[in-house]
Parts: sequence; structure tokens; C-alpha cells
Amino acid sequence: MKKYVIANWKSNKTFSEVAYWLNNFPSNEENRRPLDSLEIILAPPYPFLSLAKEIIDKRHLPIKLAVQDLSPFGSGSYTGEVAAFNLQDLNIEYAILGHSERRRFLAETSQLVADKVNEALNWKIKPILCLDKAYFVEQARFLKNEVLAQCLLAYEPVASIGSGQAEEAGNLLAIRKELQVNYNSKTLIYGGSVNADNVVSFLKVCDGVLLGGTSLDLADFLDLLFAASQGLLVD
Ligand code: PGA
Repeated sequence: MKKYVIANWKSNKTFSEVAYWLNNFPSNEENRRPLDSLEIILAPPYPFLSLAKEIIDKRHLPIKLAVQDLSPFGSGSYTGEVAAFNLQDLNIEYAILGHSERRRFLAETSQLVADKVNEALNWKIKPILCLDKAYFVEQARFLKNEVLAQCLLAYEPVASIGSGQAEEAGNLLAIRKELQVNYNSKTLIYGGSVNADNVVSFLKVCDGVLLGGTSLDLADFLDLLFAASQGLLVD
């Protein structure tokens, strides 16, 4: 089973920076250190999705695309919203939903996030649902266990995001058990200050990592990917 490495660029990067990053990412042919053990997922800002798709396709890059948010509605009169319907033909396989920054700065409620999760699944887009331990019960309240079982659950302690203070990897074992028992979850992702030095410790106890800061600079991101794939080989 591949381990997930999810790069969330948030509201960073311009068109030319996106092109530079993707044009310099080693293709399968160029890469002497294969990354076959990893499912690499990139969530750029919305305006750059089609650019990203074009370069990924042209260069045969081993990268899948995700969106950072999704409308809870279908196509129609919802000014400013991007519906799953609009994303057809762009090969969007994943959607990061309920990130704590959206819950905090955009007042996303658990009901709204649940509607987005259901809409993503209707369109065969896999939700990467972000949760924080202190709020598991509230954040999962509007989602059925059958639905939660189809999500990648991303445990993201707010205090660890962007702070350099990652959670202790050992704590994830209890969290994984709690999510399995209560919500029938199958896949646990960890996010919060993951870098090349600590990534292997997380991949040993969960199914993948969600990165913000470490995904922005291509050299840092490649260091993390190589550390992760080496660490998995050693196991
Ligand atoms: P960070 O962000 O890697 O910069 O801590 C993680 C996240 O927001 O998912």
C-alpha cells in the first residue's frame, strides 16, 4: 500500500512559480531514486489547476491533483464557488476539506464541511477530511460512518500547523485506534510541521502526511520525498 504525501500550497505561489516548481520536478524517467512507494498529491491554488494538469501530463509526473476546498452545491447560481461539476476533465482525484484555517478564518461549520464531503463523493473525488482531536465528536457529527470510511482522515492538531512543533509520532497510535473504533476509519494522515527529518517517524505509524510549509520549496519537498521513500525501503 502506497503512503500518501499531500502538498497543500494554501494561498501561496504565482503562475510562474507554479510553472517553475512543476517544470523542475523530476519526471519518472529523470528520477534515479524512484518514488513508487508514495502517492504524491498536490493541492495548488484554484487558478493554477489547469496549468498544473498540463505540465503533469506533458512531463508524465507522478503527481495527482487535489483541490483545497469545494462547493457544497452543484453547478448553477453560486457566485464565486467552484463546484465538483466544474472540475470534470481536470483529473482532480482528491479534495482537502475542513482544514482548520477554513474553519477558523471562513467560519466553516461541521455541517457545511459534511455537505462538501458528500458532494465530493458524489463526483468520485476522495475527501481528505481534516480533523483535530479536541473536536473529533463535533467535527464528525454530521457524517455517517459509511461516509467517514470513504475519506482519508487527516489528523491535524491546530497547535502543530506551521509552528515547527509536530505532534509526537507515538501519539498517533491511540488516535488511529480512536478513529477506527468510533468512525470506522481506514486511513489516517498526519499533518502539522512535517519535514524531511521527522517524516519517516510519521509514516511508520500512519498512512501518510499532509504538508504545508515543507511543500513550497521544491528542494525541501524533494528532500522529504527521498527521506520518506528511503525510510520505507529500510522497513
Ligand atoms: P504545515 O501545515 O506543514 O506548514 O505545518 C500543515 C497543514 O496546514 O496542513
